[in-house]
Amino acid sequence: MKKTIMTVAATLAAELIIFVIVIGSGLSGALYNVSTLSPDPGFLRWIFSSTSDNSVKYHANGIKVPSLTDSSMIAMGFDHYNEMCVTCHSGPGLSKSEAGIGLYPEAPNLARSAEHLSPQELFWVIKNGIKSTGMPGFARTHADDKIWAMVAFLEKMKDMTPQDYQAMKKANESMKNMKMNMKMGEHRR
Ligand code: HEC
Repeated sequence: MKKTIMTVAATLAAELIIFVIVIGSGLSGALYNVSTLSPDPGFLRWIFSSTSDNSVKYHANGIKVPSLTDSSMIAMGFDHYNEMCVTCHSGPGLSKSEAGIGLYPEAPNLARSAEHLSPQELFWVIKNGIKSTGMPGFARTHADDKIWAMVAFLEKMKDMTPQDYQAMKKANESMKNMKMNMKMGEHRR
């Protein structure tokens, strides 16, 4: 029994030494290509994406969801989405930017994501981001109410046509112009 334990311990120690040598030496660079043009083998993708999905589910559990139906909240969410998310994720009827095209893993279509992720999960991902992918976390720059507004917009985007998106864009632009004119009016007074 003692001999078996010793053998297992020695094998594990030898494997650990080989592991450290492979990672620390140039060998790991030859074994793994960090290029976005070199897709990961299926089993690695499976490990990354299942771990990521499970982590999001685990951490989003129990988050309290506010009401997401207010139209001014959805309009605020659109403003943030159109400014910060379309570069990578695109939107109804929009084409991806050059930076968006270059991402690996790719940035998914969020109208489809909103169908399979709960509002809690959407909120958690937007707030925290996802390590080692292009997905930034917005907690450092945006308060929770702004992040919930983005979730409210994503829920709306599920069944939005390109025309609906353009109509929201127009409404958003005229709202911004109106606010700017009001500010300029105040300065003149
Ligand atoms: C710089 C590029 C980039 C920007 C900007 C960006 N994202 Fe992402 N996002 C990604 C990538 C890449 C992924 C995929 C991560 C992965 O595969 O795990 C992602 C994943 C997500 C997911 C999870 C989708 C799913 O199906 O699992 C959500 C939700 C999300 N982003 C929302 C947003 C929102 C909202 C914004 C704007 C406030 C935004 N993202 C801005 C690159 C970006």
